[in-house]
Amino acid sequence: MLNYRSGGATPDTMEFSRQMAPYCAVRRLVCNPNDRYRTTDSCCNNLNNPLWRASITNQARFLSPTYVDPYNTGSIPRIRSVIGPLLSSPRDVSNAVLNGGVSPPRSRIFSVSLTHFGQVVDHDFISTPILKESRNQINQWTSFLDLSVTYGNTLDGQNDLRELGTGRLQESINKLLPNGPPGSECLAGEECFKSGDNRPAEVPMLTVVHTAFLREHNNIVERLRALGWNDGEVFTRSIRDFTTFGPDTIARWMTTQFKSRSDRFLTPAIRNRLFQTIPGNGFDFGSLNIQRGIDHGIPSYNRWRQFCGLQPALHF
Ligand code: HEM
Repeated sequence: MLNYRSGGATPDTMEFSRQMAPYCAVRRLVCNPNDRYRTTDSCCNNLNNPLWRASITNQARFLSPTYVDPYNTGSIPRIRSVIGPLLSSPRDVSNAVLNGGVSPPRSRIFSVSLTHFGQVVDHDFISTPILKESRNQINQWTSFLDLSVTYGNTLDGQNDLRELGTGRLQESINKLLPNGPPGSECLAGEECFKSGDNRPAEVPMLTVVHTAFLREHNNIVERLRALGWNDGEVFTRSIRDFTTFGPDTIARWMTTQFKSRSDRFLTPAIRNRLFQTIPGNGFDFGSLNIQRGIDHGIPSYNRWRQFCGLQPALHF
């Protein structure tokens, strides 16, 4: 069962060590079962298999990958469909399937906060780097919902977010996220943020959720300090409390605006203008994901249907 779910990819300590050795010479593999708090990189969450779901380990697969190089290693991605012809360009597929205009029907139940709370949840447990010729993909983050999105996925990363000696997380003016380096979603010269995840400014609503978590941490710290706790205790304990209670302030707009109902369409803002800085240089998020699926050896739609116990589709 284990092999089936993982496609032989993980949990495989040997494979992990081989892939990661150049980047990660020192790795804590001896666990102390009496540790009171979890580790930042999630090593030792499972005492028998300390690397399971730790940051920078292989992502699990439900189905084995589909590449076309002789040993299915990932050096050559698929270019043909399962029935032979060349795959369509991802942009053509996106134009045909994902192009839906700008005014979708609204949910009557869920607000926009649900959408971006969902986004922050996935940014807590996944970050897939782009690696060339890799059979299996790496998860840079811990696969646990442990608020690493706020606290970081490595000890160094976490220390970079803490305020020395207070138990608080760093913040900038007006209790906003601290200043950070530019990245894919924040250009040099702009006001950039830093958080446990490197995508806090992908959209402003996401930044709001990040900010709520940061503020809640610091609120809990202040309450614990009022009870006489010291820095180390305050920090680790408030991580735990925060995980339990969550944020209580989210921007008014997100809580009062109903979200779009689920459909297959992507708004032109992200289907044509993702990361656009000047007219014409935007990305298509749909094409990006379709291409990524191919590069990562994600098997065909019908293999997934069969995996889910459905009959193969004969027409699309
Ligand atoms: C609304 C604005 C959003 C924008 C502009 C956005 C943008 C992006 C971008 C640029 C990527 C990276 C693509 C790449 O690495 O090539 C990404 C990945 C991803 N997004 Fe979003 N996203 C948005 C909302 C959401 C929401 C609401 C969710 C979930 C509820 C979500 C889930 C994901 C996931 C799971 C990934 C893959 C992460 C990984 O494996 O590294 N996104 N998004």
